[in-house]
Order: sequence, then C-alpha cells, then structure tokens
Amino acid sequence: GSQVVDVQRIFLTGLPGSGKTTIGHRIADLLGWNFVDTDDIIAERMGMATGKVLTEYGETRFRHIESEILHELANNGRVVISTGGGTVISEANRKFMREHGLTVYLQTSVAASWKRMQESSAPIDRPLIAGGDGLQRLHNLYATRHQWYEEAIIHIDTEECAETELASRLIELAL
Ligand code: S3P
Repeated sequence: GSQVVDVQRIFLTGLPGSGKTTIGHRIADLLGWNFVDTDDIIAERMGMATGKVLTEYGETRFRHIESEILHELANNGRVVISTGGGTVISEANRKFMREHGLTVYLQTSVAASWKRMQESSAPIDRPLIAGGDGLQRLHNLYATRHQWYEEAIIHIDTEECAETELASRLIELAL
C-alpha cells in the first residue's frame, strides 16, 4: 500500500509459536534489513536464557526489562523486530510500536501455535506455558491478549500460506 510512508521498523507480534522469529528473519532477508529478537537481547543483557530471567526475577521485572529494550529500538532504523508474546500487554509498549513503526499481528489459532512449538527444534524456553497444563495456559494468554494483538495495523493469517510467501506478502502490504 502507499499509505505507509518510510517505514523504519516492523514490529511482529503474536502468540508464542506464531512464527515471529522465523518469519521475521525471512522478511529481514528479503528487505535487506536487520533483524532483532527482543527475547535474544534480554538473554544477552541478563546473561541467561529469557525463561530463566522470568523464573529468577519474576514476571514484573521481566516486563520492565522487555519494555526498556523495546524503547531502545527507537534508535535503530530499518529493522524487523520479533517481540516477545507478552510485549502487547503494556499499553505503553503498544503505543510505542504504533508510533515507531508498522505493527503486524501474526495470527494463528492456539492449536497451531501449540503445535508449532512442539515441533520446534529449538529448546522450549517459555515458563509461562510450561508444564502439563501448558496448552490451557496458552488458551488463557490468547483470551486475555487477542484484543491487544488485534490493535496491530496489519493482520496476517500464518496458517494460510508458506513462510516465504507470507514474508513477501507482508512486504507488499507494508511498503
Ligand atoms: C512470553 C513469550 C516469550 C518470552 C517469554 C514470555 C509471553 O516470547 O518473551 O517467555 O508472555 O508470551 P515468544 O513469544 O517469542 O515465545
């Protein structure tokens, strides 16, 4: 579309397992932009896995660090940003993303996100949805958050097409 002029940042939001990191990498490659994953920055800065930051410091502290890192990204241009699934719970974060780039919701059903996570080769590092009732907890996260995910300017159904196709479609929609 031609309405969005000079987008500097693309913020990918959505449930854990919605493909933010995978699709984010593809989009960044296609655009020739940088890619950052806020979870990776948290891990790097804290010197431990994000899951460990959550369990050792608690969710309140984790959210604080997450917001801090997000806001630092205002200084980086031409970047595709994979946010943590819970970034949208903060109204300030949602406002920041709206004002500093293009917000994208990678829409998936809870079942598909769950399946994607189970099939992932990466070690599972998501204490909020760990344990035997993980799927139920993911349902609960979705129930609380979907209204905030839906505030994104662009909604893309990730179950609809292959990842590369998805990435090029997003670029067409956005730029
Ligand atoms: C979280 C999602 C995770 C990570 C943390 C909390 C959440 O990121 O930030 O475990 O609250 O949904 P992903 O969405 O990349 O899994």
